[in-house]
Amino acid sequence: MTFPHVRPRRLRTTPAVRRLVAEVSVEPRQLVLPMFVRDGIDAPLPISSMPGVVQHTPDSLRAAAEEAVREGVGGMMLFGVPDDADKDAEGSASWNPDGVLNRGLRALRDDLGDDIVIMADTCLDEFTSHGHCGVLDGAGRVDNDATLERYALMGVAQADAGAHMLGPSGMMDGQIGVLRSALDAAGHQDVSLFAYTAKYASPFYGPFREAVGSSLQGDRRTYQQDSANRREALRELELDLAEGADIVMVKPAMSYLDVLADVAAASPVPVGAYQISGEYAMITAAAQNGWIDRDAAIRESLLSIRRAGADIVLTYWATEAAGWLNRGTW
Ligand code: PBG
Repeated sequence: MTFPHVRPRRLRTTPAVRRLVAEVSVEPRQLVLPMFVRDGIDAPLPISSMPGVVQHTPDSLRAAAEEAVREGVGGMMLFGVPDDADKDAEGSASWNPDGVLNRGLRALRDDLGDDIVIMADTCLDEFTSHGHCGVLDGAGRVDNDATLERYALMGVAQADAGAHMLGPSGMMDGQIGVLRSALDAAGHQDVSLFAYTAKYASPFYGPFREAVGSSLQGDRRTYQQDSANRREALRELELDLAEGADIVMVKPAMSYLDVLADVAAASPVPVGAYQISGEYAMITAAAQNGWIDRDAAIRESLLSIRRAGADIVLTYWATEAAGWLNRGTW
């Protein structure tokens, strides 16, 4: 009987050895917490399809943001949920300085200054009566170039409100270039762009629709990428870089780890990945049924996204995971 001298198991024998040889890890600074702030509520409102995540009041938003800062979380991405009465075909509440998202950004920047990177979702879908990420033409199609004009207004309003970084998530062609020009023209040269570079149309955004009270009927397949396509992400990367993206993103994360690895290999700028609402919901629901170990599944999911190449991970578990890391219970 031949006996193997090479025993990979030697490096798995104890937690200390495993820790020593781990190729990737997660740090609080690499995590970004997405948050929702809603108009017209006086207590945080639970999102039923995302147990543990809420639509915030201004006060609960500030408290959650301070907790994230205390745990050393790297950034926060803010989404606004307006009253239905404030939605219109153009999404004009998004560039109103007194709109829910811009008020939220201002409050966070006033409280936190430069202690954490404050990011704004730059997209019309929460603000349009039809729920699309852009304005519609006469035939009901999303009009790319007319949408860009609105993104420019929205982006400048968000920078005026104190956002350090904008996250254009609408997948309009040219959105990075138009936002860069608009920010520069308004004197916001230092506000950076976290481009949603490879964003795929996905049913895993389902719970997010509840989270933002979306009015969408139908889907976003004419502007978000087709899940069959891998190579196309590199084309989107090239364009976003040429237009001035400071950071690029792949989204969703777990069904697109191959795309994430490709983008990470090719990108000269930092790469983020967004562990989206459906990913959160699946792990949470399975754990609530007793079918998986929740905390271990969260850790594995975050590690897998880091291993595939993400420098930055947007996750609804950012504060909780940072707490584990800080207290040695990861
Ligand atoms: C669009 C946007 C979406 C998400 C972030 N920005 C929804 C969509 O594209 O349909 C999804 C985030 C999540 O599911 O957690 N503004």
